[in-house]
Amino acid sequence: MTLEQIRQTASYVHDKAGFEPEIGIILGTGLGGLADEIDIHSSIEYSDIPGFPVSTVEGHKGRLIFGILGGKKVVAMQGRFHYYEGYTPQQVAFPVRVMKFLGIKYLFVSNASGGVNPSFRTGDLMVITDHINLIPNPLVGPNIPELGPRFPDMNDCYDPQLIALADRTATRLGIKLQHGCYVGGTGPTFETQKEYGYFKAIGGDTVGMSTTPEVIAARHMGIPVFGVSVITNVGLSGEKSTHEEVQVEGAKAAVRMTSLFIEMIKEM
Ligand code: HPA
Repeated sequence: MTLEQIRQTASYVHDKAGFEPEIGIILGTGLGGLADEIDIHSSIEYSDIPGFPVSTVEGHKGRLIFGILGGKKVVAMQGRFHYYEGYTPQQVAFPVRVMKFLGIKYLFVSNASGGVNPSFRTGDLMVITDHINLIPNPLVGPNIPELGPRFPDMNDCYDPQLIALADRTATRLGIKLQHGCYVGGTGPTFETQKEYGYFKAIGGDTVGMSTTPEVIAARHMGIPVFGVSVITNVGLSGEKSTHEEVQVEGAKAAVRMTSLFIEMIKEM
């Protein structure tokens, strides 16, 4: 993906949307309900956007939604692109780069995940404080210096001020938040028991199949990131994990995640 392709797609989207978002939001599997809270100005199907990949997974509506949320101008991706679908890491990261050119100053991300921290329960929300990326890195290849440096720093990858804001907001709303490290794996298999144990051993608290490519691309461009992982299944329980369970549990917890996002955005 060249700078020119990013610019062209951004210019198309900008003209079609007629809207300049300040905050970008990526909604994970089963977590699309937040979109219903957006006072929609316009929306564009991914399939109508030149240069955009098209989402193929059940439970993912593929569109960009522009509108007001918590009093701010946002663009939400309802449906994201996953490495396991066969997209390259660069394709997975492409929409974040486009959002940067649309003018976003912050990125909020969410995902469904399996808990590997033994104290986590299904339905818990975890603020992502760090990640371990096991998906091929989207920055591999020629660097685009207009976007960011060749060797980006990944300390404070998840913005400490946004994490503090999340903690204050959750306390006020009476929402329980876990904190921890998200492991981004390739999928599409759920983990074996030994793999869940391995992710726990290397310092992970949740594991999923997304997020890290987009976060890396955002941090490359200097965008502050806030992330929440919704625990839809407890990996080390030995119970079978299914996509249906992930969607059902995600939808339940999404109600709390949605309030958290909205109330945080109001304060920004
Ligand atoms: N593993 C990987 N990805 C996931 C899981 C899991 O247990 N649950 C939801 N997404």
